[in-house]
Amino acid sequence: MDVPRHVAIILDGNGRWAKSRRMPRNYGHVRGAANVETICRAADDMGIQYLTVYLFSTENWRRNPEEVTSLMKLFHSYTRTCIRQARENNMRCRVIGDPTALDAQLQASLRELVESSKNNTGLNFQLALNYGSRDEIVRAVRRTAQAYRDGSIHSLDEITEESFSAMLDTADIPDPDLLIRTAGEQRLSNYLLWQLAYAELYFTDVPWPDFSKKDLEKAVEVYQQRTRRFGGLNAGEEDSPQEARLHKG
Ligand code: IPE
Ligand code: IPE
Ligand code: MG
Repeated sequence: MDVPRHVAIILDGNGRWAKSRRMPRNYGHVRGAANVETICRAADDMGIQYLTVYLFSTENWRRNPEEVTSLMKLFHSYTRTCIRQARENNMRCRVIGDPTALDAQLQASLRELVESSKNNTGLNFQLALNYGSRDEIVRAVRRTAQAYRDGSIHSLDEITEESFSAMLDTADIPDPDLLIRTAGEQRLSNYLLWQLAYAELYFTDVPWPDFSKKDLEKAVEVYQQRTRRFGGLNAGEEDSPQEARLHKG
């Protein structure tokens, strides 16, 4: 089987990684952010076309305010670095989630990142920031209702899986083929609930700051050994639900 076209990652375990070294949680986040850079390069080398990483969830605001503040600062400096990396490595960066709750400076840097990289043709890299799947779905429902009210959707029959997908933050991005969660927990934590409908799930105990190119290769190997099935059909026998949609449309 080929390499997965789209890999989504729940990068978890920064805090525990730091704690096991008797370091503050924030140190784990700093090392975690540096590792995002490493894994972007690894994914690109391996021929993965889309990589989506969960950086901050809509639930993460409930953390201690000091941790939230230092994470926001880190995201800002990370975004600045990412602007340079996107240029050097031809990466196209997009942001999913609701940016409106982020501070104005961070929002401006994110806009610069998206804008400055939009014509790049290498790895498609999605940053999930203040992202929550339920929030994304609710926002998509609101957009759909608005489009109906405006008259750009004329009848309820025009609301389909395809039209709804196009209202999500991931419009134009194929669904993930493989989801990886690091650090041992086996849950989705409100990540890409719609988009992961048919993804293969891979969990590893390795905490995110230690997750290396070798670990990514191992996850891809496990993925390649699996037989993907879509509603009773093996992959390859027939288009996946998404492929079928793309080919139809
Ligand atoms: C993941 O690491 C990073 C974010 C959610 C921002 P955690 O901060 O969740 O680390 P653990 O799970 O507490 O070890
Ligand atoms: C999920 O990790 C969110 C991100 C990786 C950004 P958490 O560590 O916040 O998830 P829970 O709280 O363990 O489910
Ligand atoms: Mg965690």
